[in-house]
Amino acid sequence: MRVQVVIVGAGPAGLLLGALLHQAGVEALIVEQRSADYVLGRIRAGVLEQGTVDLLDQLGLGARLHAEGLVHAGIELSFGGRRHRIDLHKLSGGKNVTVYGQTEITRDLMLARSRSGQRTVYDADQVSVHDFETNKPSVRWVEGGQAQRAECDFIAGCDGYHGVSRASVAPGAIQTFERVYPFGWLGVLSETPPVSHELIYTNHERGFALCSMRSMTRSRNYVQCALDDSLAQWSDDAFWDELRRRLDPQAAESLVTGPSIEKSIAPLRSFVAEPMRFGRLFLAGDAAHIVPPTGAKGLNLAASDVRLLSAALIEHYQDKSDAGIDAYSQRCLRRVWRAERFSWWLTSLLHKFPDTGAFGQKMQAAELDYLVHSVAASTALAENYVGLPL
Ligand code: APR
Ligand code: PHB
Repeated sequence: MRVQVVIVGAGPAGLLLGALLHQAGVEALIVEQRSADYVLGRIRAGVLEQGTVDLLDQLGLGARLHAEGLVHAGIELSFGGRRHRIDLHKLSGGKNVTVYGQTEITRDLMLARSRSGQRTVYDADQVSVHDFETNKPSVRWVEGGQAQRAECDFIAGCDGYHGVSRASVAPGAIQTFERVYPFGWLGVLSETPPVSHELIYTNHERGFALCSMRSMTRSRNYVQCALDDSLAQWSDDAFWDELRRRLDPQAAESLVTGPSIEKSIAPLRSFVAEPMRFGRLFLAGDAAHIVPPTGAKGLNLAASDVRLLSAALIEHYQDKSDAGIDAYSQRCLRRVWRAERFSWWLTSLLHKFPDTGAFGQKMQAAELDYLVHSVAASTALAENYVGLPL
């Protein structure tokens, strides 16, 4: 078969790219190695920058997001047993963030895609990308035991950190940058009201904690844990006890506990691959970069990549210009590195590091004190949290 674009991976990046291309009349096939249910079963951060909300609105996919998403004008930082509010709205010149689960965005995008009759191959085995350094790239896979092949003009590698796209690039053509953090996040989803109506990021001597939410009746809470902790060690009671210990007295008092609906441990990593384009193969989203979840930049970065990529491909077909294609990698990476810096900084500020000792803790305490008492410092936090302009 022949299509204009093959998108590898039906996560948020691939689905969003497919929707943006479809809106402009560019035809794309998505090839995904997992099932649709598996993709919808993954729970990830849920804080959307205004630019991401605008993109979904532009696609006409904002209805449920606006009905069910929670608009937040601030966040709280908790340390030394007290909470301090950062007024994101005021400090960023009127911007907010929207709390709406990534799973819900994926569901909205999947539904719109199948309604408009665009094709997604799920459960594709042995996906491989070919000849992207020539004018005739192609993607191959095995579907129900049958070998399949799609010839295309471009391949979009939206297949996440473990995907085949980045792995298919010649080692000498790619450079990677990485930091692995010496701890993980234990996350619990529960049908309980959130501790506060805004997110609470906590720095505590026992480790980081985050109180987030999916709705006013569903909480998503996290505690920093050891990388070798197993889920078997963390009963629901053990999780709630540990979270309560790390919260300020008022939040601890109002914490409502309940059985977990989902519980998982995620490692934290910063990672960037450069460049993000190899001939007719483009990387977008987690295939090209990973941020630690502190600050929830992952999905927002994926959205800004595919916004630039869709514009570049549309310009190629409509205006017969490759200017956007040629600028894609450089334009993305500038934003990527700024989000990497912010996520690394917020992670460093809020977590307990095994090797920085008492001096490291004093530095965190001084920086937190400065952050909540200096307008300049809290403005810098706010403008990054709500999203830097493209
Ligand atoms: N062939 C086809 N599909 C693949 C392959 C492969 N070889 N390898 C991986 N995939 C699929 C995965 O099953 C997954 O559905 O690619 C998809 C990648 O999706 P994500 O990992 O969600 O990555 P992305 O779409 O870039 O989303 C970015 O999601 O991971 C979070 O923190 C991240 O919030 C960010 C956002
Ligand atoms: C979440 O709700 O899962 C979440 C929110 C904010 C973060 C990370 C995760 O910084």
